[in-house]
Amino acid sequence: MGRGLFLGRGLFLCLLVFCTSVLMELSTAQMPGFVSLDCGGSQSFTDEIGLEWTPDDHFTFGERTNVSLTNETRTQYTTLRYFPADDRKYCYTLNVTTRTRYLIRATFLYGDFDSNNVYPNFEISLGPTFWSTIVISDASTIEVRELIFLASDPTISVCLSNATTGNPFISTLELRQFNGSMYFTGFENQFYLSTSARINFGAESEEPVRYPDDPFDRIWESDSVKRANYLVDVASGTKKVSTQLPIDVNRDERPPQKVMQTAVVGTNGSLTYRLNLDGFPGNGWAYSYFAEIEDLAPEDTRKFRLVLPGAPDISKAVVNIMENAQGKYRLYEPGFENLTLPFVLSFRFGRTIDSSKGPLLNAMEINKYVKKIDGSPDGGVIASIISPYTSAAWAQEGGDPCLPVPWTWVHCSSDSPPLITAVKLSGQNLTGNIPSDITKLSGLVELRLDGNALTGSIPDLSSCVNLEIIHLENNQLTGELPSSLATLPKLKELYVQNNKLSGTVPSGLLNKKLNLKWVQPLISLTAMLNAPAIMHTSHFISLHLT
Ligand SMILES: *[C@@H]1O[C@H](CO)[C@@H](O)[C@H](O)[C@H]1NC(C)=O
Ligand SMILES: *[C@@H]1O[C@H](CO)[C@@H](O)[C@H](O)[C@H]1NC(C)=O
Ligand SMILES: *[C@@H]1O[C@H](CO)[C@@H](O)[C@H](O)[C@H]1NC(C)=O
Ligand SMILES: *[C@@H]1O[C@H](CO)[C@@H](O)[C@H](O)[C@H]1NC(C)=O
Ligand SMILES: *[C@@H]1O[C@H](CO)[C@@H](O)[C@H](O)[C@H]1NC(C)=O
Ligand SMILES: *[C@@H]1O[C@H](CO)[C@@H](O)[C@H](O)[C@H]1NC(C)=O
Ligand SMILES: *[C@@H]1O[C@H](CO)[C@@H](O)[C@H](O)[C@H]1NC(C)=O
Ligand SMILES: *[C@@H]1O[C@H](CO)[C@@H](O)[C@H](O)[C@H]1NC(C)=O
Repeated sequence: MGRGLFLGRGLFLCLLVFCTSVLMELSTAQMPGFVSLDCGGSQSFTDEIGLEWTPDDHFTFGERTNVSLTNETRTQYTTLRYFPADDRKYCYTLNVTTRTRYLIRATFLYGDFDSNNVYPNFEISLGPTFWSTIVISDASTIEVRELIFLASDPTISVCLSNATTGNPFISTLELRQFNGSMYFTGFENQFYLSTSARINFGAESEEPVRYPDDPFDRIWESDSVKRANYLVDVASGTKKVSTQLPIDVNRDERPPQKVMQTAVVGTNGSLTYRLNLDGFPGNGWAYSYFAEIEDLAPEDTRKFRLVLPGAPDISKAVVNIMENAQGKYRLYEPGFENLTLPFVLSFRFGRTIDSSKGPLLNAMEINKYVKKIDGSPDGGVIASIISPYTSAAWAQEGGDPCLPVPWTWVHCSSDSPPLITAVKLSGQNLTGNIPSDITKLSGLVELRLDGNALTGSIPDLSSCVNLEIIHLENNQLTGELPSSLATLPKLKELYVQNNKLSGTVPSGLLNKKLNLKWVQPLISLTAMLNAPAIMHTSHFISLHLT
């Protein structure tokens, strides 16, 4: 018997070694669509759970710094990147596959990196959409924000802005790709899902379950973690149960098997919980994950109802896990695609009168709908205009040109969606022709491209009917001043001196009340000064011979 035990143990050890090496091999093949940015880091590394982290060292904005906390030693939390507390936004851009759903997770561990006695408070946005306000309230708590979205463009931008106190900063940015129709909703073209609660009931430790147990690296919080106003008012008679048997989870949201192998049971007929839901009140997506993992006697039944205060309709449906899932150890995932929920959520699962067993709950997930904000319709045009200048800092500001705050060299209208009203790229080493796409910025009021090395002729700007101010001086523009400029009804200021322009000022322009700066090559200057139109309107024109 002792020998048998010894052999058994040897076999067990073998299995363990084998399993570990298989795990290590698996972990070197990162899941497709995973991006893990270690903000402020300087080296790539693979962490203890097999995630491959890369530093954000190509990022040109902000400063890197080290943080040191005795109880948080994960490499990705020993560094962060912080930004000036100014009016602008600082954006990370990530590649995604369109028509695919993702989880984006941003985390923030302050660690008192700036030895400031004021905690940072700033905002995070996904593209033009306000996502969340990051409020730091202590140095050693990791703030986590997650958003589930359907990618509609080949890139996404995550931006920090609007610091009201302290410096905006970020510790990690994690992108995780979902499979198939996971997290499909009928609202996904207008709304993102912001994670409020993802709870593993009956958890055997306080550790969350995530990758590799969850191949999509969602974080399932343990119900053993004690927090104020979170999973309190637990009914007496609530017991944890678990199984080692495999669970069939390959449907719907595919919760990880490890989460489904544990549950709580209301042995006295009820399961009750109260928890604060970040981001609520509002409309949300709320699902329960059930799998029968107890051995019920043939005469036993487990039937129960969800009871939500103020929502009597919800209590009509009876859950019978084995029947609904068509067997034991199989996932059944009932829920509500669109439910109005309060900030303080109290819920109860109660046994039906004819049920011999109390309710069982393996996991639960609640996400809040976040309305997508339309970005500026000028976004595509301005992106193509700046595409030749990818290495310039001003071309790397990222995100939407206008929202939630405009790029430093752009002004926008207050319409929703906003239009670009000013482009200010004076002295930025622009070369080549004035991009003809500029003429597609229909809301443009002010165009400043002076002090560059622009060549070629001035494009027809007559489609920008709101243009008031045009500065093209100090370039190498050639050709004539287009007569179409005279059709701009609001034009007040046109500076074109110090170029290589030829010809004369179109007569249409001379008839306007216009501040015009124009230096003519010597030969035609004489001709121009002799033109009768000049004599007629000279008090409206300033001729600058510099
Ligand atoms: C952060 O720590 C690394 C390694 O310990 C060190 O090389 C680097 O200089 C530190 N950076 C700052 C900003 O202190
Ligand atoms: C780390 O330690 C601080 C105090 O030393 C404590 O407030 C905080 O909760 C701890 N964090 C974790 C994750 O244990
Ligand atoms: C993102 O995609 C662009 C264009 O396909 C490519 O040039 C770039 O290297 C990609 N970036 C990353 C981080 O993969
Ligand atoms: C910035 O934050 C302040 C205070 O939280 C808020 O009043 C203001 O509207 C925000 N500005 C933007 C552009 O979001
Ligand atoms: C994702 O779906 C593909 C195809 O259906 C499947 O082969 C793959 O195993 C799935 N991945 C996960 C992690 O479930
Ligand atoms: C179950 O409920 C009964 C009556 O409500 C109560 O007396 C008993 O203490 C409860 N048992 C447990 C384990 O809480
Ligand atoms: C959810 O339902 C409410 C009211 O019933 C409705 O106004 C809203 O548009 C629906 N969808 C979302 C995503 O909130
Ligand atoms: C323009 O180019 C010059 C020479 O390459 C460089 O020194 C200068 O910093 C550039 N200016 C801007 C605004 O990029």
